[in-house]
Amino acid sequence: MTETQKSATLSLNGETYELPIFSPTAGPDVLDIRKLYAQAGVFTYDPGFTSTASCDSTITYIDGGKGELLHRGYPIDQLASKSHYLEVCYLLLYGELPTAAQLEDFETRVTRHTMVHEQMHNFFRGFRRDAHPMATLVGVVGAMSAFYHDSLDVTDPWQREVAAVRLIAKLPTIAAMAYKYSIGQPFVYPKNDLDYAANFLHMCFSVPSEEYHVNPILSRAMDRIFILHADHEQNASTSTVRLASSSSANPFACIAAGIACLWGPAHGGANQACLEMLKEIGSVDRIPEFIARAKDKNDPFRLMGFGHRVYKNTDPRAKVLKQSADEVLELLGVEDNPLLQVAKELEQTALNDPYFIEKKLFPNVDFYSGIILEAMGFPTSMFTPIFALSRTVGWISQWKEMIADPQNKIGRPRQLYLGETMRDYTDIEKR
Ligand code: SDX
Repeated sequence: MTETQKSATLSLNGETYELPIFSPTAGPDVLDIRKLYAQAGVFTYDPGFTSTASCDSTITYIDGGKGELLHRGYPIDQLASKSHYLEVCYLLLYGELPTAAQLEDFETRVTRHTMVHEQMHNFFRGFRRDAHPMATLVGVVGAMSAFYHDSLDVTDPWQREVAAVRLIAKLPTIAAMAYKYSIGQPFVYPKNDLDYAANFLHMCFSVPSEEYHVNPILSRAMDRIFILHADHEQNASTSTVRLASSSSANPFACIAAGIACLWGPAHGGANQACLEMLKEIGSVDRIPEFIARAKDKNDPFRLMGFGHRVYKNTDPRAKVLKQSADEVLELLGVEDNPLLQVAKELEQTALNDPYFIEKKLFPNVDFYSGIILEAMGFPTSMFTPIFALSRTVGWISQWKEMIADPQNKIGRPRQLYLGETMRDYTDIEKR
């Protein structure tokens, strides 16, 4: 970032303070308040961090007004149509699109790390079969800390690199194992002759008793879903990973923390909640009832898959997913899927409703993804694990960037305290 000559002047209690202003390569200027408490004895107050830049980063840029999403400067719609997930992983991790040789080397390294330690299979046996796959994912990914001791030292760049590749390579295997365990089918080992997306479909849907041929339409759609969920600036789960990593916790524990945060229905859990909502709506004639509930201040119901903290125009990922939903369902011969019809009618109704227009609520990444995933054969419980395995590269890229930043220090916010001031202990007989 470039420190401009500009500064903001704060007048407080008869004193004035100069707050330096930093200008980004894109987006709003930031006020540097790092010395504010030491100089003026006050905190800033920003629950939910609606006006707070927690770090500087060169990885992903979002323009919420224009509906733009760039990964290392490349627009998401171009990456979704021209690239593939492991190439986007390379871009996020190393900052540039790879040469053919670099891509081949990276894909080989990832492919060679897709198997998990055989003893990790025992972890799954400890879960109930009806455990949510996200519960299993949090547990097993955190447990990677108990197995991969040669990639725990975050001060060693080589160990950081190995941990990054291991996590990107093994998350699909672990997510597929969680799915197989939940349906009582045997685990399926990865195959090195399949690409990343095809391998995941193979590990989820093949069974030992017959040959499984990956449908290229599905693996292309799967790869595109991975790309669209790969990274998204300082969202809640990425901020969780950064905060956990600021204590120098090992990468597997930090990614497990990110998975736990993503699970929430306000965040990555919205794709599952959205499909369940579409099923509850059931038909287009019930849409007005749910729109009314979403607008009712006394009803906690929200339209899942709608709204976004940053996007106030459109979520560019939702546009690509809507196109992909049309393509995939038509190619699968289920274009008249009632859920897709309800989703499209719901979108049109909401986008023409003054409430949604005024509050700038649009479909987000979670609105159409579930329709595609269900058409591909996944149960709703696997939607957020798929989001988590896609986002692992984003979490890891942001983690690597933070660890390598010389300014990196433990995250320790303060508070606006509204509790009791000091008082003496009262013996129980006097209470
Ligand atoms: C993801 O941050 C990221 O980048 C996240 C993500 C990523 O890639 O990492 O993009 C992934 O999490 C997408 C969002 C998935 N969540 C959902 O679809 C759940 C439904 N959406 C909402 O819960 C909500 O829109 C959030 C959580 C997404 C955003 O919440 P904000 O920014 O805190 O906004 P808000 O809750 O303050 O809402 C502003 C107003 C409120 O009304 P008022 O109090 O001002 O009167 O809009 C209303 C809200 O009631 N509102 C909605 C609504 N979302 C917001 N009303 C009805 N339905 C909705 N979906």
